[in-house]
Amino acid sequence: MREKDTTSPTVMVIFGITGDLSRKKLLPALFDLEAAGLLPGKLRIIGFSRREWSSIEFISYVRGVLAARERQYHGELVEKFLKKFVYCQGLFADAHAYRRLGELIISIEKGAFKQCANKLYYLAVPPHFYEGIFRELALSGLTIPCGGDEGWARILVEKPFGNDVKTAKKLDELLGLLFKEEQIFRIDHYLAKEALQNLLAFRFSNALFEPVWNYKHIDKVFITLSETDTVGTRGEFYDSVGALKDVGQNHLLQMLGLIAMEPPKDVSGYAIRKERVQVLRALHGGVNPLAQYVMRGQYEGYKNEKGVDLKSTTETFFSVKAFVRNRRFRGVPFILTSGKALGEAKTEIVVCFKPPHHCSCRAKQIRCMHENTLTFRIQPNEGIDLRFWIKKPGFSNDLEEKHLSFSYAGSAEATRLPDAYERLLADALAGDQMLFTSTEEVQAAWRFIMPILKAWQNEPLVVYKKGTKGPVFEK
Ligand code: BG6
Repeated sequence: MREKDTTSPTVMVIFGITGDLSRKKLLPALFDLEAAGLLPGKLRIIGFSRREWSSIEFISYVRGVLAARERQYHGELVEKFLKKFVYCQGLFADAHAYRRLGELIISIEKGAFKQCANKLYYLAVPPHFYEGIFRELALSGLTIPCGGDEGWARILVEKPFGNDVKTAKKLDELLGLLFKEEQIFRIDHYLAKEALQNLLAFRFSNALFEPVWNYKHIDKVFITLSETDTVGTRGEFYDSVGALKDVGQNHLLQMLGLIAMEPPKDVSGYAIRKERVQVLRALHGGVNPLAQYVMRGQYEGYKNEKGVDLKSTTETFFSVKAFVRNRRFRGVPFILTSGKALGEAKTEIVVCFKPPHHCSCRAKQIRCMHENTLTFRIQPNEGIDLRFWIKKPGFSNDLEEKHLSFSYAGSAEATRLPDAYERLLADALAGDQMLFTSTEEVQAAWRFIMPILKAWQNEPLVVYKKGTKGPVFEK
């Protein structure tokens, strides 16, 4: 599939080409794909934006973005790559702009390609522009595939997809007017992180773990996305969503889904998405749901960030307990924690196994506390760590903690891990939806999150100092 798609002519339209996402992620990812030979030979990337730029200004912007990257991009490859870019100026909800876009696409098809091309639309814009873009795309007819087997049309939509169940459904209805589900690629870039993709491979290829992957042996699971960065230049957007919607409803719940899902029937996108959604649908807040709602905080100085309301009650930190109502995981708490401006930048999943009933503990210990833990380090230092216990060498009978560790960076065959966006773009071109979220997943995630947000409205917000572990909650 991927092979076939790298040969068919494709036009990619990026709405919001001058935004943060395009600059930080999309343009570098596209270049890396080009360098790896994974982009279609016949490709044009149309940058769509509001800025009044000439083609020359646009190309020099793209060149500047690439040059500013850590790995310096020079020479022929960059110049060859830049030739693929075309600019289209316009407002996202202006019908005239879509007419111009259509003319541009036709001129590429008739001129450079001499045939009808695949079309990939990428919405790298704030969510309040989605509706306008969907509507104008629909009216313009630009989403109609060429026909037959040739010239598909697909759309990539960034998270957050909607703001709650209702708005997510409404967006889907609008999208449904344009595209079939198999043409819609809803992005949660966490799914495309190498270390997360490995989670399923690890779980289902090592028979050692399957017998203990359940409530009888697993005590609890910590899923943590801790960031040292503040909201930076995204204050206005962030203040309207908050941490739980920004990363909880999507990245953290998707990680939970991968830990808790049943083995898929096969490795197809259909089978894997089907199992992920079963977990999300089975989420609940436990027997005492209110106990989960109290953990929310805001970092000191947040209200003074650019674009943030001076009286903002938006959380920049949360910790939520979730349970999965299924046979495998009943009663096992999944503790989801995330925050900005914390002391450490790391994303990890720690599976804590129950301590043994009998172990070589000292008799006076009431309960043996020697837990095995299995840690999936999603970033940085991607890898896996198993904590176990041995007898401390020497004359005592004490136990000592040891680790079996795997790190991608330290492995003999260490290669550069592709960035999540490279994988997402490559998969969208190949038509593989495995690492994208289905409409059912998005809605199930909102269903779990909304009651928490509602209950939070009456809860105080704890202010925490930057560079710490987050808020300290009084018991
Ligand atoms: C994004 C959130 O989806 O994920 C950001 O909007 C967050 O607020 C980011 O910083 C984290 O992603 P990563 O890949 O940097 O861990």
